[in-house]
Amino acid sequence: DLRIGTAVAGGGHHETQPYPDPFTFDQEYRARLAAEFNSVSPENQLKWEFVHPEQGTYRFAEMDAIVQFAQANKQVVRGHTLFWHSQNPEWLEEGDFTKEELRAILKDHIQTVVGRYAGKIQQWDVANEIFNDNGTLRTTDNIWIRELGPEIIADAFRWAHEADPKAALFFNDYGVESVNAKSNAYLELIPRLQAEGVPVDGFAIQGHLSTRYGFPGDLQANLQRFDDLGLETAITEIDVRMDVAAGTEPTDAQLATQASYYQRALEACVSVEECNSFTIWGFTDKYSWVPVFFSGEGEATVMEDDFTRKPAYYALQDTL
Ligand code: XIL
Repeated sequence: DLRIGTAVAGGGHHETQPYPDPFTFDQEYRARLAAEFNSVSPENQLKWEFVHPEQGTYRFAEMDAIVQFAQANKQVVRGHTLFWHSQNPEWLEEGDFTKEELRAILKDHIQTVVGRYAGKIQQWDVANEIFNDNGTLRTTDNIWIRELGPEIIADAFRWAHEADPKAALFFNDYGVESVNAKSNAYLELIPRLQAEGVPVDGFAIQGHLSTRYGFPGDLQANLQRFDDLGLETAITEIDVRMDVAAGTEPTDAQLATQASYYQRALEACVSVEECNSFTIWGFTDKYSWVPVFFSGEGEATVMEDDFTRKPAYYALQDTL
């Protein structure tokens, strides 16, 4: 039942995230996207600033094209994301709204976006990155929590569920690969919400790994404790970056380390019963966000710029 997915590149802020989306003009990219995966996630195309650039004005063409592509290629789609502190449009972050207005804006957005793709999106990252690393809620940089209080989190899930009762609704975060303060915070929050009848189905771990920091050896145990609560789990954005000086190639040893991280992450997911989705955050270095966001690091995906398969690709294939 395990789905293997990738982010569909596009809609970002830099030259490696071209607009229009690569699958509309890069035939090699398009062919690989269709052939190698049975799940896809929009890398940016459903984020507020992209899909809701002006108040009340939605821009759905790019996401519609991804959904169409997925259906033509018998792929499921993961929706990302509805409630986040980042990549929000200026009209929202800088707007002068009352609490009632903000609440109505969020409700309208969730129902419009989820409703448009009802039956076509299998899993939603409803809430993204709501906790700080120390396990406290993001009460300053998350506009919704700051302005409307933590109870708004439950409302976001309720509104998403109303708009598509069949979609599985997730929390998603980075830095929660291991048992730590942040993952503990989710382990405490999710059952509490469920006990109140809030429709939460799963907990998703992004999985942005770096060979600088080592592999999170307790990933499987961490996934398992969410599984033990009866939750679905998923790896939603894995990439494994490494130190590379500009213009140089990674060594065989670096590529082998990277391959082992990907493999161990997939093995962890495979070993946990309801870990049902494993998504890499882009499949070719050609369009990866990593070098732009992490200075001195790169080469984080499973294929080179020219789509040559790296050891990591074969390590994942061997695991399946
Ligand atoms: C990243 C995209 O890959 C970039 O193109 C964009 O410019 C910034 O966001 N956590 C998330 C993703 O949930 O949405 C982020 O994606 C990576 C970190």
